[in-house]
Amino acid sequence: MEILIIALIPLSLLLLGAGFLVVAQVSGFMQSSFFNQRQHFSNMVIQQYMERIALAQGQLYQRKQELEGMSVKLSLSNQELGRLNEMKSKFLSMVVHDVRTPLASIRGFSELLLKKNVGEREAMYLKNIVSSTDQLGRLIADLTDLAMIEAGKLKMEKTDFFFPEMAKDILPGLSINAQKKGVDLVVHDFPEGVLVDGDKFRLSQVFMNLVNNAIKFTPADKKVEISFRREGKYVVTMVKDAGIGIHSSETKKIFEKFYQAKHQKDEKLRKQGWGLGLSIAQEVVRAHQGDIGAASPGLGKGSTFWFKVPVKS
Ligand SMILES: Nc1ncnc2c1ncn2[C@@H]1O[C@H](COP(=O)(O)OP(=O)(O)OP(=O)(O)O)[C@@H](O)[C@H]1O
Ligand SMILES: [Mg+2]
Repeated sequence: MEILIIALIPLSLLLLGAGFLVVAQVSGFMQSSFFNQRQHFSNMVIQQYMERIALAQGQLYQRKQELEGMSVKLSLSNQELGRLNEMKSKFLSMVVHDVRTPLASIRGFSELLLKKNVGEREAMYLKNIVSSTDQLGRLIADLTDLAMIEAGKLKMEKTDFFFPEMAKDILPGLSINAQKKGVDLVVHDFPEGVLVDGDKFRLSQVFMNLVNNAIKFTPADKKVEISFRREGKYVVTMVKDAGIGIHSSETKKIFEKFYQAKHQKDEKLRKQGWGLGLSIAQEVVRAHQGDIGAASPGLGKGSTFWFKVPVKS
C-alpha cells in the first residue's frame, strides 16, 4: 500500500504540472486574440476618422472656392457702387449749382414787384413766391452741404471767436421764428469769455438747426429753453423743448441723412423738412472734434438736443 502511495505522488505532480501548462497556454491564446480584436477595432475607428477628415477637407476646399468667387463678385460690386456714388455726388452738385441762379432771380424779381403798386391779392401771391423760394433755397443750401460732405470737401474755416457772441448774434432771428409759431423762447445765462477755435458760420448753422427744430416740433404756448455750460474742456449748448418727443429707438437714427422719425405721426410736420439738418449738424460738430446728441423721455414728452465743442485753452 505504501509503495502505491509513493508511486502515485510523482504521477499526480506530473498531472498537476501538465494542467498548469494547458491553463497558461489557453489564457495566453485568449489574451492575444483579445489584443488582436482591440487592434482591429482601433484600426477601424482610425480609418473612419481619416475618411471623415478627407470628406471635411473636400468640403473645406469647396467652400474656399465659393468664398473666393463671392469675394471677387463683392469687390466688383463695390467698385460699381463707388462709381455710382461718385456719379450721384457729381449730379447733385450740378443740379444744386444750376438751380441756385434761377431761384435767386425769381426771388429778386418777386421782391421788386412787391415794391410796386400791386393789389392786395397780388401782394399775397408775391409773398408766397418769396417764402417758397426761401424754403427751396434752404433745401438747396442743405443739398450743397451734403454734396460737399460726400465729396469730402466740407472744409471748416476756423478762427477764434467768443462762443456766446455767436449765439447772441443769431438769437433775434430765432426769436422771430418762435414768435410766429407762438412758442416761448427762453434763454438762460451765457458763460462768460468762452473762446472757441472753430468755423463760426458752421457752428451757428448747428445752433440754428437745433433751435429751429425745437420750435418746429413744439406746439404753440409751450416753452423752448436754451442754455450753455462749461463741461471740462468743452462748452455745451442745450436746447430743451416741450414738443412731440422722440421714441427711444430713434434718438440716434435721426442723425442719419434723410431720416425722419417714424414713430411721430404728424405728417404735416414731416413734410416741412427733408431730414437733413441734423446729419449736417453732426458732420460740422465732428469736424470740430465735438459731439452731438438727443435725449427724450418719450413720445409727447419733449426732447433735449445738445452739442459740445472744445474750448480754446
Ligand atoms: N426737437 C425735436 N423734437 C422731436 N423730434 C425732432 C426734433 N428735432 C428733430 N426731430 C426728429 O428728427 C428728424 C430729423 O431732423 P432734421 O433736422 O435732420 O430734419 P427735418 O427737420 O425733418 O428736416 P430739415 O432739417 O432737413 O429741414 C425730424 O424729422 C424729427 O423726426
Ligand atoms: Mg431740421
